[in-house]
Amino acid sequence: MSDDSNVSAELPDWTREAVRRFWDPGPKLLRSIRRYQAARSRGHMLAAKYWVLVHRFWSVITQSEIHLHTRIEGGLRLPHPTGIIIHPESVIGPNCMIFHQVTLSSPVTLGGHVDIGAGAKLLGPLTIGDHVRIGANAVVTGDVASGETVAGIPARPVKAARSADQA
Ligand SMILES: CC(C)(COP(=O)(O)OP(=O)(O)OC[C@H]1O[C@@H](n2cnc3c(N)ncnc32)[C@H](O)[C@@H]1OP(=O)(O)O)[C@@H](O)C(=O)NCCC(=O)NCCS
Repeated sequence: MSDDSNVSAELPDWTREAVRRFWDPGPKLLRSIRRYQAARSRGHMLAAKYWVLVHRFWSVITQSEIHLHTRIEGGLRLPHPTGIIIHPESVIGPNCMIFHQVTLSSPVTLGGHVDIGAGAKLLGPLTIGDHVRIGANAVVTGDVASGETVAGIPARPVKAARSADQA
């Protein structure tokens, strides 16, 4: 899932969010959130309304619920953006990756460079550290320390912890 050995948990890599073609649902959904938040913070309410409509469009296309006010640090990747449900008070750290059918229920705080496999459910409130990998279809019911790889139901560590240098 994560062969990206130099991904930072702190410095957002904005190229991960780049829109590469017209039909690029993940980056376009994210861009609508970014533009909405930027327009709101500058008081450009007409522009904000436009981005609400764009957000609705891509939310329907992706069948995902990522609220317009969710705090998302830069560099989020959504490779197969379908059925992603994120509690509006969740916080997503820099350079995370979320696969399809992932749910963050109740507020979940993700550290930096957290990769969440397809179908995983994180039942908050809980906190996930930096450089964490969460296996496909895991059900996470407790906090996860930095560097861990967890999987299963309920999720448990499956490998020796990665250090930040190895992550
Ligand atoms: C959890 C994960 C990151 C671990 O990858 P890894 O470091 O290569 O680990 P391994 O494949 O060597 O597995 C280590 C152990 O965890 C188990 N395991 C791996 N993934 C698991 C999962 N999702 N659920 C339950 N157990 C899992 C393996 O069976 C193995 O157990 P063992 O030590 O008893 O043999 C990976 O298996 C995974 O689930 N990635 C998600 C990928 C994904 O969703 N891709 C979507 C593509 S469209």
